[in-house]
Amino acid sequence: MELKLNNGVTMPALGLGVFQSPPEETTAAVQTALEVGYRHIDTAAAYGNEREVGEGIRRSGLDRGDVFIETKVWVSDYGYDESLHAWDKAVGKLGVEQLDLLILHQPAPDRFEKTVAAYKALETLLADGRVRAIGVSNFMPQHLKQLLEATDVVPAVNQIELHPYFAQRNVQAADAEHGVLTQAWSPIGGITFYPGWGENRKNVMRDPAIAAVAKAHGKTPAQVMLRWHLQQGRSAIPKSTNPARIAENFDVFGFELSAAELAAIDALDTGVRSGPDPDVARPERFAMVIPEA
Ligand SMILES: NC(=O)c1ccc[n+]([C@@H]2O[C@H](COP(=O)([O-])OP(=O)(O)OC[C@H]3O[C@@H](n4cnc5c(N)ncnc54)[C@H](OP(=O)(O)O)[C@@H]3O)[C@@H](O)[C@H]2O)c1
Repeated sequence: MELKLNNGVTMPALGLGVFQSPPEETTAAVQTALEVGYRHIDTAAAYGNEREVGEGIRRSGLDRGDVFIETKVWVSDYGYDESLHAWDKAVGKLGVEQLDLLILHQPAPDRFEKTVAAYKALETLLADGRVRAIGVSNFMPQHLKQLLEATDVVPAVNQIELHPYFAQRNVQAADAEHGVLTQAWSPIGGITFYPGWGENRKNVMRDPAIAAVAKAHGKTPAQVMLRWHLQQGRSAIPKSTNPARIAENFDVFGFELSAAELAAIDALDTGVRSGPDPDVARPERFAMVIPEA
């Protein structure tokens, strides 16, 4: 299933995420994903595994043009020249000559002028054909508005925290209004259950309403959540390093949720995020240096 971006480029709706995938497991995870049919990988400079993603793609034997590669510029590389150079680092590690989608990892709310300069570098990379599409991540409507006022190219994608417990309908609406495709991170709610991210979180994977829909279709909660994204027109990039779960998360094209089931999942939204608030300045993030290729 392909989605058309606002510049005409097509992107497979479902991709493999690799946040927290240890480098030594990433090559195999990417290879497995490509074997079971994924054609889209979402990585980031900050994940420290772009090199292994590139290796997994090469080992698959697929043509470069058959795999959609998405990666992200980290905040410490924001600024015009810095972000142009972030492209050099990314393609050097991935071992490719062109990126399919390059996005800003998050707004830097206290240094928005640097965020804008970084985006202008993405516009240059796009004009030069070094990337096929550009976008943003974790942009709230006010960040998007500020960016649109200061730049020329409307982002193709906004990648945000989005699962049944936090659907961010206001962000989805702002994205849609401007022709920006919303892409869900933690699409099966990883941020609500992966360890070390705070106690007392409510695990969306164990939600009884989702379990009921899953049971009705003979599917798993993860598959139901991915169907919910796809049927509502979003891109989703579930992460796994486990071969069975990588395959499970791609086996979502043979069933359909009803309007009532979609509405039941929509009704689970708590309005409370589990991940970091993009509007809070986090100066410590600028201390993380992205290594050269
Ligand atoms: N832009 C951003 O700021 C941002 C932030 C977070 C994530 N992301 C991107 O979005 C991707 C996905 O988000 P995420 O990794 O946070 O969460 P996720 O994909 O919703 O969930 C991943 C977690 O679920 C487990 N899992 C995977 N498939 C499963 C299944 N079928 N049944 C049960 N458990 C399953 C994984 O463990 P196993 O590996 O052991 O299967 C992992 O702990 C990331 O990898 C990254 O590419 C972007």
